[in-house]
Amino acid sequence: MGIQDIKHQADQLLSLIEQDDSDYATLQSVYLGRNGRLNQLMQLLPSLSPEEKREAGIILNQTRAILSQKIEERRQLGSTTQEYDLTIPGKKPKVGHLHPISQAMNEITRIFERIGFMRVRYPEADWEWFAFDALNMPKDHPARDEWETFWIDTETKHPELGGIVLTPHTSNGQVREMQRLQGKPPIRMINIARCYRRQADVTHTEMFHQFEGLVVDKGITIQHLKGTIDHFAQQFYGPNAKSRIRPFHFMFTEPSFEVDFSCTVCNGTGKIGADKCRFCKSGWHEVGGAGMVHPNVLKAGGIDPAEYTGFAFGWGIERTYTLRQGLKLDDIRLLYSNDLRFLEQF
Ligand code: PHE
Repeated sequence: MGIQDIKHQADQLLSLIEQDDSDYATLQSVYLGRNGRLNQLMQLLPSLSPEEKREAGIILNQTRAILSQKIEERRQLGSTTQEYDLTIPGKKPKVGHLHPISQAMNEITRIFERIGFMRVRYPEADWEWFAFDALNMPKDHPARDEWETFWIDTETKHPELGGIVLTPHTSNGQVREMQRLQGKPPIRMINIARCYRRQADVTHTEMFHQFEGLVVDKGITIQHLKGTIDHFAQQFYGPNAKSRIRPFHFMFTEPSFEVDFSCTVCNGTGKIGADKCRFCKSGWHEVGGAGMVHPNVLKAGGIDPAEYTGFAFGWGIERTYTLRQGLKLDDIRLLYSNDLRFLEQF
């Protein structure tokens, strides 16, 4: 093995890398790696005479410099086989939107804020006392069963406030709001929160949302309640929308009502042409409850019922919202399935 061989092999290396279209990392290891081709040539050095060694050293160093340069060029360009079409349009980042229920919550909030209500939030895991006792539903009263409540396991109960529940309705906010204002009306509250009940089928999800209105002041009457509900109906469903209240019973309101809104599909007539409206069947949809705040609830919040009166209402957001779209969801659970094919439609 002589200096001529080394020269020859070094030249070969240079023409080899010229034709090699591997990517940068491969070139780096094949030519300059520890067991790479250049180092294999270096191993021939000891067999040379001292003079030849010097010359071979210079040749190999030059070869290394050229190889490094080629590899660096490759690094900057990417593989030579890869072509870029600069005219292909770029990938647009996907733009999402708020979940339909969040959209509804924002809109409902704005409708009530414009008439002087204030949005508040209260705990979604709350003391039993706020969800029931303070609302005139004593410990063993069967009325509580209506609220199919999830209870949180606790080792002990609070001596006055009792156990902890996942709020089965937003009415827990009523007495909390009275307390926040230290029993000093006026109160104009809109409380929007998640609620939880032990029920899951095509028309129920265990988690859902309600919005709760509470107004307390001197001289508040049912007319204020009806006017507020009508106002909401027109703002949310359109100028022709109507509301209707029917007698009902809740422990925390007296008198109590169920509230219906006129159907958005048939405009409250119950008919489409000669046929019955299949969306409502009667011209009306029930949305939730309302009533005049029970004196015991005012007392629980430190307000004197002889001086003040108030009204309250509480409705499900999912239902209120899907009525507007004239949406008959075969399965309400779709709202929370995170299926983009469904959500993108809103
Ligand atoms: N909290 C009641 C429910 O969940 C609704 C309601 C709210 C009724 C306020 C009257 C007053 O069904």
